[in-house]
Amino acid sequence: MAKLDGRVAVVTGAGMGIGRGIAGAFAREGASVVVAEIDTAAGEQTVAWLRDEWGVAAEFVRTDITDKVQVLAMVDVAVKRFGRLDILVNNAWRGSGYARFENMTDEQLRGGFDMAVMAAFWAMQKALPELLKHGTGRVINLCSLNGVNAHMYSVQYNAAKEALRSLTRTAAREWAPHQLCCNVICPGAQSEAYKRVAESNPQMAAGMAAGNPMGRIGDPLDDIGPVAVFLASDDSRYLTGNTLFVDGGAHINGVQWAPAVD
Ligand SMILES: NC(=O)c1ccc[n+]([C@@H]2O[C@H](COP(=O)([O-])OP(=O)(O)OC[C@H]3O[C@@H](n4cnc5c(N)ncnc54)[C@H](O)[C@@H]3O)[C@@H](O)[C@H]2O)c1
Repeated sequence: MAKLDGRVAVVTGAGMGIGRGIAGAFAREGASVVVAEIDTAAGEQTVAWLRDEWGVAAEFVRTDITDKVQVLAMVDVAVKRFGRLDILVNNAWRGSGYARFENMTDEQLRGGFDMAVMAAFWAMQKALPELLKHGTGRVINLCSLNGVNAHMYSVQYNAAKEALRSLTRTAAREWAPHQLCCNVICPGAQSEAYKRVAESNPQMAAGMAAGNPMGRIGDPLDDIGPVAVFLASDDSRYLTGNTLFVDGGAHINGVQWAPAVD
């Protein structure tokens, strides 16, 4: 029996990058997956890939995670379509640029909190009753070494992702008596977002790969996905409130992070 047979997962931002990799790894272990994604073409492609490659049931729900109504509807769709919800992965993110701390705007900072904190907060509140039903509930939130190590020129990202880690630990503490596990992954992977940053900052990207203890940047499906499967499965039933750095050891030494800014 596969590790996630019979389980139902919602993965936000599963149209590409790490979300797609996590969705694929879940499908490989038998889960039904709801792909909640703002980019319709990308979301539909992921759904077709999950069905064709692993023969699982998968559903696309066009979702903008900055819109509360759509986030609540995303959970409703999962339950209506599959009759249950076991795993919620808050992964979606869209970058809002780099700037020195003193040049970052209110809009950028608020945007970061909307994407990272409010979206996960709404989704977790809405999903809770379903996550409690079968003793299999799991929340996995994607955060970042950028916040943990305070990398430069992305205060809107760093602060929001660290707030999300705190939110996750608080939920983990409050919901632990119900055996509901909430954990964080801080990944390092060759997603579309990573490739964009690397292309416009080639020196930094070369330094990041060379400075990574394992000498490479991870693969969304085969490096990040299996850890998400572990956190989603019964294997991690006594693990909650943790942050797993799935980054080839980058967090041990830090990475060279200095994107170009004006
Ligand atoms: N790639 C890395 O190395 C890395 C490092 C640290 C943290 N992370 C975190 O991992 C997560 C995934 O990042 P990624 O690198 O795969 O990014 P990505 O840009 O490659 O993929 C993000 C996905 O989210 C979707 N999305 C964007 N805005 C959305 C919205 N409003 N509603 C719904 N979907 C939306 C995009 O369309 C895309 O499919 C993020 O939370 C990011 O902060 C990634």
